[in-house]
Amino acid sequence: MIRFKNVHKTFGTGDNQVCAVQGIDLEIPVGQLCGIMGPSGSGKSTLLHIAAGLVDADQGSVSIGARDVSRMTAEELTLMRRREVGVVFQFFNLLPYLDARENVELPLLLDAVNTDERRNRTTKALEMVGLLHRATHRPPQMSGGEMQRVAIARALVISPRLVLADEPTGNLDSAAGRQIISLLRDINDSTGVTMLVVTHDPVWAANCDRVVRLVDGLVSEDTYLKPRDSGDGETNGRPAVAENSGKNGGKAATALQ
Ligand SMILES: Nc1ncnc2c1ncn2[C@@H]1O[C@H](COP(=O)(O)OP(=O)(O)OP(=O)(O)O)[C@@H](O)[C@H]1O
Ligand SMILES: [Mg+2]
Repeated sequence: MIRFKNVHKTFGTGDNQVCAVQGIDLEIPVGQLCGIMGPSGSGKSTLLHIAAGLVDADQGSVSIGARDVSRMTAEELTLMRRREVGVVFQFFNLLPYLDARENVELPLLLDAVNTDERRNRTTKALEMVGLLHRATHRPPQMSGGEMQRVAIARALVISPRLVLADEPTGNLDSAAGRQIISLLRDINDSTGVTMLVVTHDPVWAANCDRVVRLVDGLVSEDTYLKPRDSGDGETNGRPAVAENSGKNGGKAATALQ
């Protein structure tokens, strides 16, 4: 699970001061697909960047599982992003001179995973997003939707415990955007990976387990679209059969390992 406790972040000083996040308390249980919505400037990206350890909070804490992100060293944060947290951005952030396979493989390469395992896991991740047939295409040879699917495969290849996505459909037309929405929904259902997805798209709302709305750096609404967690922090209201066959120990959960 990921837990934000009284998180604050202010940018700038004096007249230029902006209170981006002003005391957020939020707990996302394991396996939940949580959408973050809210007007432009309400602090959505800042919150995600704090969760990824890309921005330091001024006050409060963020923990992923038992670990306090706010207390990690730069090196620990790098390792966390390499091994535990997959990040997907609006503008894909792919390396244009690498092909799809090489882009997806990159986090494993940086983590010195051996060649065979890298190849295996990359193939599975590309399969999962339906792009194995584009493995040798470089980003300039792909559509926006395809590039975003490569970025999602790159986030998944590490078998993350958490996926953070900042407007993953924000730079796509509506058809490609819908594909990405249903892809992320399917991945959450089959692997049970916890997801925090920032979006302006109301279609997302209908596809999330829960939607948190931010206004002026604070939670203004918190709506559960699926039954609330039963209390053990694990099931997120899913039936036991889904729990057994999917998230914990199921085939999809181990597909990328
Ligand atoms: N690095 C920064 N320096 C100064 N101000 C910043 C910085 N990053 C964000 N801000 C300010 O903090 C506020 C929240 O920004 P944030 O990017 O989190 O909003 P957002 O909800 O993601 O908006 P959008 O929907 O437009 O992406 C904004 O007013 C923004 O201008
Ligand atoms: Mg933003």
